[in-house]
Amino acid sequence: MADNNSKPTTTDAGIPVASDEHSLSVGPDGPLLLQDHYLIEQMANFNRERIPERQPHAKGGGAFGHFETTHDVSQYTKAALFQPGVETDTVMRFSTVAGERGSPDTWRDPRGFSVKFYTSEGNYDLVGNNTPVFFIRDPMKFQHFIRSQKRRAANNLRDHDMQWDFWTLSPESAHQVTWLMGDRGIPKSWRHMNGYSSHTYMWVNASGERFWVKYHFKTDQGVDHLVQEEADRLAGADADYHQRDLFTSIEQGDHPSWTLHIQIMPFEEAKTYRYNPFDLTKVWPHADYPLHEVGKLTLNRNLTDYHSENEQAAFEPNNLVPGIGLSPDKMLLARGFSYSDAHRARLGVNYRQIPVNRPKAPVNSYSKDGAMRVDNVSDPVYAPNSYGGPSADPERFPEDAVWASSGDMVRSAYTLREDDDDWGQAGTLVREVMDDAARDRLVSNVVGHLSNGVSQPVLARALEYWRNIDSDVGERIAQGVQQS
Ligand code: HEM
Repeated sequence: MADNNSKPTTTDAGIPVASDEHSLSVGPDGPLLLQDHYLIEQMANFNRERIPERQPHAKGGGAFGHFETTHDVSQYTKAALFQPGVETDTVMRFSTVAGERGSPDTWRDPRGFSVKFYTSEGNYDLVGNNTPVFFIRDPMKFQHFIRSQKRRAANNLRDHDMQWDFWTLSPESAHQVTWLMGDRGIPKSWRHMNGYSSHTYMWVNASGERFWVKYHFKTDQGVDHLVQEEADRLAGADADYHQRDLFTSIEQGDHPSWTLHIQIMPFEEAKTYRYNPFDLTKVWPHADYPLHEVGKLTLNRNLTDYHSENEQAAFEPNNLVPGIGLSPDKMLLARGFSYSDAHRARLGVNYRQIPVNRPKAPVNSYSKDGAMRVDNVSDPVYAPNSYGGPSADPERFPEDAVWASSGDMVRSAYTLREDDDDWGQAGTLVREVMDDAARDRLVSNVVGHLSNGVSQPVLARALEYWRNIDSDVGERIAQGVQQS
């Protein structure tokens, strides 16, 4: 042993090993021996280190922290974590969407904003983004959308033509593409961006009253961005720029935080509101539904093992607790299935027993066996039973986070409301939310993007797309592309 104070190396079975440096051979120059099980363990373990990366959102990082409910929202939800004064441990993961595990943090992309709350009633996961809307409103298009943002089949290259082809043939993307091409498309750091549920969720209070809510996590560090040139430079100079920023700040005791606000829509108003309140491409204007403060999320502890605490972290929108439910947003309903399926494929059926995914509330489920099960199962293994096994208690989780639905089975778009269209809110974002400087950067970003590999007929459609969002900005983009 080089250092007398260091621990002796062992095999994975805890058996001391003879050497960290030399394999077992017949004489110093001779062939290797098959019975060198430690060499074989080293090679075999190494060959199996990589697990499949997440399909979207492969590159990311995160930290542990806690959420404190600072304001009384008990009139809207009975969820234990949102009762005044309650503190809940959390783990968070930030990510980019389209890039692979080693891709640069500063590529233009929406950023994932996933929070797992280890509540007293089981895990609650909120898997959002740094934008309040999304590119599409029907889950049938999600797989196609993600493929269009990743790599082409033939040359394995990312391709702006493919991206704009999909976007311009999917005009519902206009609002999110405007966010993406603006400053929010490259945050200065994960600490300098907001997080949104984007979807509408249902909250239910102790009396069974139902409300529709949207979540807004406002960064306490202030929203800030990188300009395209700086982001391009960093993509080469420090591909892990955002990950490094988060790790370093927490290590230095600078703990980032976000203040959670919600918008609340009374249950009945959803039926007549001028926008479909479940359409993921729309925001609810704050003038109609103002923000109500709920609490504070703080990150204060770095991961100690990226693989087991981040790569194997499994966030799933189906993890809902009493007092919180899904809404009739078709995207959200599909996500309720997709994530746990991805985890079973990526991590195995017993992924919830991996420590980072393990609830802090007691687990009394009837799941049994399967690959990599580590928790013991005990009799009885079925319900109902006469032998004291767990039994479901409708009082504890009444099925009240529900809504009524009826109609013929159809494949159809949502029914349009008075103000529903694909361009209106994108135009408002350009004209009323962005200032002159932000609009200039938007034009420059879009011109740069369109001038890099976008050909006809996609280019003509893209120029038309921007004219539909805002005629002035559309004109400036057309001129910019012509001059480039
Ligand atoms: C990751 C599916 C829409 C945010 C993922 C993953 C899948 C998926 C399969 C990888 C999960 C894993 O392997 O761990 C879908 C489907 C969608 C959809 C089918 C629509 C029908 C959205 C939307 C948002 C979102 C609208 C944001 C509002 C995220 C985030 C992650 C993720 C943040 C990364 C989670 C993590 O940090 O581990 N999505 N997604 N997704 N998705 Fe979605």
